Formats: sequence, structure tokens, C-alpha cells
Amino acid sequence: MKHGIINAYRAFLPDVTDATPIITLYEGDTPLLEAPRLRERLFLPDNLRLFIKFEGMNPTGSFKDRGMTMAVSKAAERGAQAVMCASTGNTSAAAAAYAARAGMRSVVLLPRGEVAMGKLSQALMHGATVLAIDGNFDEALCLVRDICATHPFDLVNSVNPVRLEGQKTAAFEIVDELGDAPDYHAIPVGNAGNITAYWRGFRQYHAAGKTTKLPKMLGFQAAGASPIVDGHPVLHPQTIATAIRIGNPASWQGAVAARDESGGLIDRVSDERILEAYAAVAASEGIFAEPACATPLAGLQSLAEQGYFPLDRPLRVSVTLTGHGLKDPDRALKVSGGSVREAPAQKDAILRELEKAIF
Ligand code: F0G
Repeated sequence: MKHGIINAYRAFLPDVTDATPIITLYEGDTPLLEAPRLRERLFLPDNLRLFIKFEGMNPTGSFKDRGMTMAVSKAAERGAQAVMCASTGNTSAAAAAYAARAGMRSVVLLPRGEVAMGKLSQALMHGATVLAIDGNFDEALCLVRDICATHPFDLVNSVNPVRLEGQKTAAFEIVDELGDAPDYHAIPVGNAGNITAYWRGFRQYHAAGKTTKLPKMLGFQAAGASPIVDGHPVLHPQTIATAIRIGNPASWQGAVAARDESGGLIDRVSDERILEAYAAVAASEGIFAEPACATPLAGLQSLAEQGYFPLDRPLRVSVTLTGHGLKDPDRALKVSGGSVREAPAQKDAILRELEKAIF
């Protein structure tokens, strides 16, 4: 494996030229793990094999690194001194890290009080100027677009087209691993860049003769932040999955195209279901992903309940878990009940506790 997505997939990334300095933290090449225990736990049918693309294994702990290596490399090529983004947390962590790697400044605008602690600490540690605004992600993105239009900051949100170019490489990796496209690909939808990027990746690999088919794209939003399902922007999006707390996605049209061209769907799931799936994947597979990632897992469960999946042939379903669980330790402690048992430092006492806990 060549290091970093630009080196690995350069032939599919025409924006990269000999003049582009490659700013990388060796993102990509993340694991694709079959998840049989989780499949059972979600009551998915037996003919369906479930594969998890664990994007939490990227250098800053989310899929954003794939897009950020492209955005910051191109910014460096232009001689930019600083990058700027709005974020629910992960984009800001990636922007700050890749900017540091390139010797650039970074500025991030965040919705105040709505960003998980791990993500905030990453942005701060990588030296970003962090501004928490009294508004949500959609308002932050509007402000950033406005400021970048008139000031010397390079915009590194996914409205920057090279971001999605980088992110499409995750679809390539899935195909490279499976030997063909999956039958379905499930993914959380927030600002809708990633579903757009995956669909582009699958289509480009298909056109290059690397797959025999295209997957149906299954996108899932949180019920309190589901503008694409509702068909109109949501002014005050609400969900515990703060990563996808977005009411007016920038890549709305891309998501709709992915859904319609692939014959898939975009649906919503409740926070309650998201939290159940969040706990289930950690407990049944040893994969710790942040709450937003559980959205497509809950979505698959609900589709299976409705009898959505054909039962008469083998199916392969891949699902992207977009960010690492360590990003949001507060939520993890709340969901797990924080049930730490206490015992004196003494063998007998410990065994007594274990008897209560296990036997
Ligand atoms: N999952 C995670 C963990 C995310 O951080 C995001 C988006 C998504 C899913 C949704 O992806 O926006 O491409 O549809 N996070 C952005 C951010 C908005 O600022 O970090 P999308």
C-alpha cells in the first residue's frame, strides 16, 4: 500500500499535478471488517453479509482526513497561509492537523456548546484559532463562505470541490477489498458531502471497469435533523449525533442524485435507535465509533424490519462508520451508565465482586 490517499489513488485524482506538494498524515487504507455479531444483533437477514468501513482509524479519527489531504495540499500549492472552515467538530480537527502539517494557520467556526470534547481538544492542540459562535453549523458555514470570499483564507469545507475528490477514495478501498462493489452501501448524512463523494467513487471505479455493478446508496439522517427526508431545510436541527446536526446540507443535490441514480434511499432514524446501535457495535464487535456513525446501523435495522432486503440471494452490505468513539467520551460514559464497580485491593474482595458481576 502506498502511503496516503493521494499516493495510492493519484490516477483518479486529476487535481493533483507535479506542482502539488503532498501534505499527508498517511490517511486512508482503513479497515473493512466483517461484522457477523452485529448483523445478528441488528436482526439483519442471514443472506446478508455486513462489512464495516471503519473511518475512525484515520490519523485524526475521522473520514475528513481523506478530503483534507487534498484541500490542504492544493492550498499549499497556491501558497495559502491560512485555511478556514465551519464544523460540527471533525472537519475542524482535520483542518487544524493538516494545516499544522503544512505550516499554515487555521481558523475554525463551531456551534457553541455542540461540539464533542475530543474534537475540540484536537483543534486546540493543533493550534487552530477556535471561534464558538452563537448559532448552528449552517449559520457558521454561511459566515465562513462570506469571509473566505473576501479575505485570504482558503475555504476547506466540502464546498471546496477537492475535498470530495479525496473522500471518494474510501469507495475505491471498499471495492479493492471486496473485489467488486457491494450490493448496498449505508452512510450517515449531515452536510451530504460524503454520500456524494462515495457515489462518485463507485461510479468512477465502475466506469474504469473495476466493478461489475453499482451499489444502492442508503443514506440516513437523524430524525431531528433530516432536511433531505423532509424535503425542506430544518431551521433548528436537533440530535444527540452532533456531527450531523445540520439543517441545510451544502451537498443536498449530490445526495439526492446518489439516492436516485443508484435506486437507493435516504431515510431518518430516531436518537433512541441511534444510541442503541452505538452501544451495539461497540459491545458486539469491539469497534468504537462516535454516535453519528450509528445512524446507518440503526437505519439498516429499520429497513430489515420493513422487509426491505431481498432474501433470495447473497447480499453484501458495507457501512461507513465515519468517526472514532474517542471523539465523544462524554456520550460514551452516559450511554454505558458509567457502571464502574469498586473493590478493595484484595483478591477475595475482587473475586466476590466478579461473582456478582459475571456468574
Ligand atoms: N459522520 C461524522 C462523524 C461527521 O463528522 C460528519 C460530518 C458526517 C458523518 C456527515 O458527513 O457532512 O459529508 O454528510 N461532519 C462535518 C464536520 C459536518 O464539520 O465535521 P457529511
